[in-house]
Amino acid sequence: MALPQTVREYEELGLSRLWNFPTLYYMRGSDDQQTFADSEKAFLRYRLRPRILRGINNIDMSCSLLGREINFPIGLAPTACCRFAHSEKEIGTCIASVKQGTVMIHSCASTTKVSELMEAAPNALVWQQLYLFKNKLLTQQLIKEAEASGVKALVVTVDAAGGCNRRISPYTEGSREHACNTEFRLPNFEISTPDCLGYQKMGDQNLWAYCAFQCQESSNSLEDLRWVQTITSLPIVVKGIIKGSDAKKVIEEGIASAIIVSAHGGRQLDGIPAPIDALGEILEAVRETGSNTEVYMDGGIRSGSDVFKALAVGAKAVFVGRPALWGLAANGTEGVSHVLELFREELSDVMAQCGCATLSDITPSSVINEAKYLAKLEP
Ligand code: FNR
Ligand code: LAC
Repeated sequence: MALPQTVREYEELGLSRLWNFPTLYYMRGSDDQQTFADSEKAFLRYRLRPRILRGINNIDMSCSLLGREINFPIGLAPTACCRFAHSEKEIGTCIASVKQGTVMIHSCASTTKVSELMEAAPNALVWQQLYLFKNKLLTQQLIKEAEASGVKALVVTVDAAGGCNRRISPYTEGSREHACNTEFRLPNFEISTPDCLGYQKMGDQNLWAYCAFQCQESSNSLEDLRWVQTITSLPIVVKGIIKGSDAKKVIEEGIASAIIVSAHGGRQLDGIPAPIDALGEILEAVRETGSNTEVYMDGGIRSGSDVFKALAVGAKAVFVGRPALWGLAANGTEGVSHVLELFREELSDVMAQCGCATLSDITPSSVINEAKYLAKLEP
């Protein structure tokens, strides 16, 4: 069978291999899915500004995130439960990130233990994602395990402070039988704090309920984030910022070495802006702090042209969530690796046509927002 030629073709192929529940779990946004849909669509509102005849012979996409070199500015966002997509699960995704020379953020709600992941791919550049769990011992132990396993940063997700309605029940078709299967467990939560021992005794759909129960709640505050900082020497990346003032808050406290502008793939608070639209406001706020905090974004990126637009607006790098799951579902490690390669090739083509030999040649003038462009055409 011919290999897919685009990330969108991977979406079709990957999802065709999944049963109902993971398709819904991977794909659904929350509530009316406005943010989910807009996160993709928003990219259409930005148009490229090519620069011709620039004599470009070589494209260099390499960059450094938190002081570590990667081959191109596209990393893998944390996505829970990769085992639903393929038996190679998070390990497949991680090996693909090594093949392509980029960074993977490993979800704490992974179907692979962080130590197992790092043993399978010791050279990988992995950042460990976590929530501010209600259970502080769980947070502490996860951080310890991540540090001992050799991850290079902690990514604290702060945009899941309340419930949300994805309009799928974890108890629907397919999930019950698979939740009973040990392969589908969430081993990073199977640690020996008193509550977690309780978890091991629960079976079935309680796994999902437990996971949700453990996630952060609205009572979390900056204090909890400060506490994480006191118990780790790893750099902290704050994920889930969508407003300038929130970016300022975590930067001025000296907590964030980097932030990820993100709407959690439209899976948490519906009605918030598409990350690409929010990026400008956040960059301005970061600039005002005078700090050198790195700013990345995720959400709705489906092509090299989308990546280029995000870099032009000002992101240092982007992360992709669902595209990697589609690649994994379609063809395991090879699928994820090919998805990354497609992104890289497409970004290289767009850079060439926009007259950019390196990432620093990509500037705000490389794109224009449709609204501004059309306003110029008005009589
Ligand atoms: C996610 N995301 C996510 N984020 C996080 O911080 N921890 C997690 O465990 C998960 N799990 C997860 C599972 C699935 C199935 C999806 C689709 C997403 C959000 C993810 O990291 C990222 O913010 C978005 O997926 C980016 O949007 P795209 O690339 O999927 O459009
Ligand atoms: C999700 C959680 C695990 O988006 O972050 O499903």
